[in-house]
Amino acid sequence: MTGIPEIVATSDGSQTLRHHITGETYHSVNGAVGESMHVFIRNGFEAHPARHVRILEAGFGSGLNALLTLHAAENTGRSVEYTAIELYPLGPEIVREMDYASDPLFVKMHDTPWNGKYDITEWFSLTKIDGDLADMQFTTIFDIVYYDAFAPDSQPELWTEEIFRRIYDALAPEGILVTYSAKGDVKRALRSAGFTVSRLEGAPGKRHMLRAVKTK
Ligand SMILES: C[S@@+](CC[C@H](N)C(=O)[O-])C[C@H]1O[C@@H](n2cnc3c(N)ncnc32)[C@H](O)[C@@H]1O
Repeated sequence: MTGIPEIVATSDGSQTLRHHITGETYHSVNGAVGESMHVFIRNGFEAHPARHVRILEAGFGSGLNALLTLHAAENTGRSVEYTAIELYPLGPEIVREMDYASDPLFVKMHDTPWNGKYDITEWFSLTKIDGDLADMQFTTIFDIVYYDAFAPDSQPELWTEEIFRRIYDALAPEGILVTYSAKGDVKRALRSAGFTVSRLEGAPGKRHMLRAVKTK
C-alpha cells in the first residue's frame, strides 16, 4: 500500500477513501453520503433538540460528516461548534481530487489550520485536533459525539469502555453518541461506561447502528 488514501466510489455514487495502512474504507461502500446522512445527521444531529450544539467527531477523515453537518445546520437554522480528532490528516492534493471539493466550504474546512478554532461560516466553527483518540483527554463539554473510528475488528483499541467513559464524562446531560457499529462488544462497552444504548435500523447494507444517551 502507498502512503496516501485512495479515492473509491460507493454504491450511491458518492466518494469515500480507502486507508493506506488499515485497508478500511472511511464510509460504507454501500453509499458514503447515505451512511453519513443516516447515522450521523438524522440519528445524531437531528435527534438532539438544542439549536446550538457542540459536536465531537472521532475521525475527521475526508470531512464528509462535517460537510453534511454544516449544510444540515444551514438548512435548519442551527449553529454548530464542531471538534474533530484525526491521527492521519489528509494532504491538500487528495482533498482537491475528491468530488466534494466542488463545494468551497469543503476545501475551506480542510485548509483551516489544525489545533485552533476557526469559523467556516457564521453558524459553523471547526476545531480540528491532530492527535490520537486513544490518548485524548477532553477539557470541554459536548452534546453529540459522532463515533466514526475504523471498525472494532480493525482498531479494537478505539472501542473500549475506558475511551467511552472519557467521552461520557465529556458529554452534557442528555448528550448522545452515534455510531455505525452495532457490535455486541461495542454495545456492552458503552453500557459499562454509563450510557443507555439503543439499537436502531442501520444505514443501507447494514442491519443496525447504535445510539447511546447519557441519561443520568
Ligand atoms: C471510518 S473513518 C472516518 C471517516 C470520517 N468521519 C469522514 O467523514 O470521512 C476513521 C477515521 O479515523 C482516523 N483514525 C484512525 N485511527 C485514529 C486514532 N487513533 N485517532 C484519531 N483518528 C484515527 C482515520 O484516519 C480515519 O480518518
